[in-house]
Amino acid sequence: MKEHNQTNSGNIKWHNLTIDRDKLEKMRGHKGMVIWFTGLSGSGKSTLANALNEVLHLDGFSTYVLDGDNIRHGLCKDLGFSDEDREENIRRIGEVANLFMNAGIITITAFVSPFISDRNKVRKIIGSNDFIEVYCAADIKVCEKRDTKGLYKKARSGEIKDFTGISSPYEAPENPEIVVDTGSLALNESVQKVINYLKQENLITKSK
Ligand SMILES: Nc1ncnc2c1ncn2[C@@H]1O[C@H](COP(=O)(O)OP(=O)(O)O)[C@@H](O)[C@H]1O
Ligand SMILES: [Mg+2]
Repeated sequence: MKEHNQTNSGNIKWHNLTIDRDKLEKMRGHKGMVIWFTGLSGSGKSTLANALNEVLHLDGFSTYVLDGDNIRHGLCKDLGFSDEDREENIRRIGEVANLFMNAGIITITAFVSPFISDRNKVRKIIGSNDFIEVYCAADIKVCEKRDTKGLYKKARSGEIKDFTGISSPYEAPENPEIVVDTGSLALNESVQKVINYLKQENLITKSK
């Protein structure tokens, strides 16, 4: 059992549930885990997360995608893009991903998550064995050329401040479980690379 974080009040006590992660994983027939995509805007996180989700879902796995823009519409709509807000954004998502994982779900996340320290905090929340960091390593030139959401143009003109890769740093992972060159590989090759890793590490074996 992992340690639980301290709370602001001393009067809150952790309640152990009888239908726990182990039981939920047995029911689903596979492990819960977090597959964490990180990379610049336009590097392919959402596209790859969605495509991977489709493949795993069709194979009968319980999966769910947490995607950056969607989460900022709700859970994190009070947060902006300052370093502090980015940190809090990733902390909340890390906690939510942990809840999904504890429900025995393969949780796929797609957030720029530009800072090493924030991603490492999530790794700690999740536990290193269950945290698969996938670096979408498309070069900034490729991402800017794609400019899928027109954000690089706005960042270059100064209309958007603190834009990762232009006016705010992106810290590439030092030891990610998987690096996918989403700048040059085709989408199906990128999906295959992730699937190959999950198979090789026996992470997606099914007991029923
Ligand atoms: N190998 C690949 N993996 C993911 N996306 C790719 C790949 N090759 C090209 N693309 C394209 O790159 C763009 C990535 O956009 P998106 O997934 O929204 O990025 P992000 O979520 O990282 O901001 C899409 O238009 C997608 O079709
Ligand atoms: Mg995206």
